[in-house]
Amino acid sequence: MQLRYVNAEPATHDTELLALAVVQGTTKATGSLAALDQALGGAVGRALAAGDMRGNAADEVMLYGGKVGPRRVLLLGVGKATDLTPEVVRRMAARAVRAAEKLRLESLSVSLDGLPGVADVARAQAAAEGATLAAWHFRELKTPSEDEPAVDVRAVDLMGAGDAGALEHGAIAGAIIARAENLARTLQSRPGNIATPTHLAEEATRIAGGARLEITVFDEARMQEEGMHAILAVSRGSDEEARFIILEHRGGAEGEPPLILVGKGLSFDAGGISLKPPEGMENMKFDMSGGAAVIAAMQAIAELGVGANVVGLIPSSENMPSGSALKPGDVIRTLGGKTVEVINTDAEGRLILADALAYGARMRPAAMIDCATLTGAVVIALGQHASAVLGNDDTLVNEVIAAGEASGERCWRLPLWDAYKKQLKSTTADLQNVGGRPGGTLTAALFLSEFVGDTAWAHLDIAGTAYGEGDLPYQRKGGYGVPTRLLIEWVRSRAQ
Ligand code: BES
Ligand code: MN
Ligand code: ZN
Repeated sequence: MQLRYVNAEPATHDTELLALAVVQGTTKATGSLAALDQALGGAVGRALAAGDMRGNAADEVMLYGGKVGPRRVLLLGVGKATDLTPEVVRRMAARAVRAAEKLRLESLSVSLDGLPGVADVARAQAAAEGATLAAWHFRELKTPSEDEPAVDVRAVDLMGAGDAGALEHGAIAGAIIARAENLARTLQSRPGNIATPTHLAEEATRIAGGARLEITVFDEARMQEEGMHAILAVSRGSDEEARFIILEHRGGAEGEPPLILVGKGLSFDAGGISLKPPEGMENMKFDMSGGAAVIAAMQAIAELGVGANVVGLIPSSENMPSGSALKPGDVIRTLGGKTVEVINTDAEGRLILADALAYGARMRPAAMIDCATLTGAVVIALGQHASAVLGNDDTLVNEVIAAGEASGERCWRLPLWDAYKKQLKSTTADLQNVGGRPGGTLTAALFLSEFVGDTAWAHLDIAGTAYGEGDLPYQRKGGYGVPTRLLIEWVRSRAQ
């Protein structure tokens, strides 16, 4: 999809569809609505007077224009003027794209006018994100239907008053960020028989070539040499070889400590010998969502030319039951040297992350964030509208929360208190890999904390937020790409 900012006057712009926001309580066609009202012979004023468009968040009215200017004008209610945020803008632009899709239009325009209180750069960026995300599809495994050919929204023009330079800058950044998130969604959507660890490594290599990132991929032999026995242990029951993917962006000064992003890349989680029940197991293809988000974020970070050194680490394997699989009771030696008694082979994410975090900590990073579909418990704690964030550094955790607010990928802090630590005590090894049902998300994070040394570190549990039924106008059922936007936002905030 092509997205750009054009410095044009919405009311006279030649387009199939123009979408425009209307805030709650609008009763007269003044301000940005006045010129349109005139172009449409008073139709905007009549829609307002009739009460069909009150500016409430669900209101939508379609008006039809004449020979010049927009052929159709879609008024979109966005709620209270005092509550406007980038997320409101993101959703508004997404609603416009979905409306165009329904009408089988390949192009549309979105006005950035009528959205007071959101600064130019943020407004254009959010609109670019919403539009680009809404247009995404995953159709590569479906046979195209001849009766109902698929519609693709191919071009979106953003326009409206403001600082044209800032609006253009925001639009470009938003398109890069959303295209990256769409890439994460595509990787998530691919099933386990396609998106294997080898496939993820190949895709990361392709992306690195396009974005000028450095890439290194460890195969199992190399992981053995490095001492990454936890990843190898999880992978042992699988016929697919594990991979450890390292992506590097050198945007900062030589020798400047990097920011590290770590993503769980478990390409299919059957649970291993502690096998999962069949119901919903197909969703465990999404267990590489963290890894997909890190690959995607690294692409955007390179394309945006962010002025920081950033490293992405993606431990990737399958978790399968077999005669060679890891067994409950087995003890493994992780990269840092700590030993772990495996009580439940389904708590595999923390094992592969243990090696990845220990590897990252050795690089002496300025800060490290991992993201992982780690626990079912987080879905019980926070549901689908917030990722959990836990960490050993208050400043970093607060930065992550702020990046979540700014990007619309929100997270909520859970405690990482020592009091929970005794749940991970093992009789035979340094630690055991599960802490029982109480506080499952907290004990999983506490387990991870054992491998980061004194690195400032934060963990995002995205099991409830990485995929779903498609609640928002810029989502569809399946992978959401979360937390790609959050990671990019955090890295950009650090680079400023
Ligand atoms: N990948 C799962 C977590 C998960 C659950 C992701 C639901 C998405 C939706 C993880 O590997 C897992 O199986 N966790 C176990 C841990 C338990 C055995 C301590 C869980 O949460 O049940
Ligand atoms: Mn599991
Ligand atoms: Zn898992």
